Amino acid sequence: MKELFFSLIRSSIGRKCLMAVTGLGAIGFLIVHMGGNLFIFRGQDQINSYAHHLHSLPFLPVLEVSLFALFAAHIILSIVVTLQNQNARPIRYAVNASAGASNLSSSTMIYSGIAILAFIAFHIWHMKFSHSAHVDEYIKVTSILGHPIITIGYILGILAVGLHLFHGANSAFQSLGLRYPKFDYIVEVGGRVCALTITFGFISIPVYVWFVLRGG
Ligand code: HEM
Repeated sequence: MKELFFSLIRSSIGRKCLMAVTGLGAIGFLIVHMGGNLFIFRGQDQINSYAHHLHSLPFLPVLEVSLFALFAAHIILSIVVTLQNQNARPIRYAVNASAGASNLSSSTMIYSGIAILAFIAFHIWHMKFSHSAHVDEYIKVTSILGHPIITIGYILGILAVGLHLFHGANSAFQSLGLRYPKFDYIVEVGGRVCALTITFGFISIPVYVWFVLRGG
């Protein structure tokens, strides 16, 4: 296992595969995280009970450290792979900028990635450290998302996540060599649907808190 890891890290294809696997792991986390937070639509007791169950998991610290390692690995690998691509092709081809496969999402991956990193730092500070641990989850989330500037910050951060995933979800399958002409369409549409579901699922929360719970 250790040898497989080091041989992957040493090769450029291996690093792309690890970047894809860590990216898919982060998508898995986002789906679970979104699902949990959507309990807010079922009311105060439901979201508090979800948070209570989450916080009582005996292996939660292990999950949190693994999640941190997953995001850190994805970020480090993406920096290494970007530098490696730039060194391999120092002069950008003029035609590349308008290549058919290129779109807003694929050409802004590095910028959306930086925006997500800033959002996650802002978000973790808010959700984990800005309130006492005894504050009810519902009160915490609704009071944080009840501020217009913060609501806008959340929507922009989530849009950056959506933009990143719109290309990233498909690209991960490509890096892992899991795209066959026969299933290409399914992977492509599946990736887009996944990106849009995560984006609109998360955006519905600040919109609901702002317009419905707090009356706009
Ligand atoms: C409106 C949307 C969101 C809401 C309401 C929300 C809510 C929360 C809450 C309440 C926590 C603290 C959980 C706890 O008490 O332990 C949390 C943690 C976290 N959130 Fe979000 N979140 C949202 C969107 C996102 C997005 C888009 C991302 C990723 C880009 C994200 C990444 C994280 C991470 C990495 C943590 C730390 C996990 C941990 O260590 O416990 N969240 N979020």
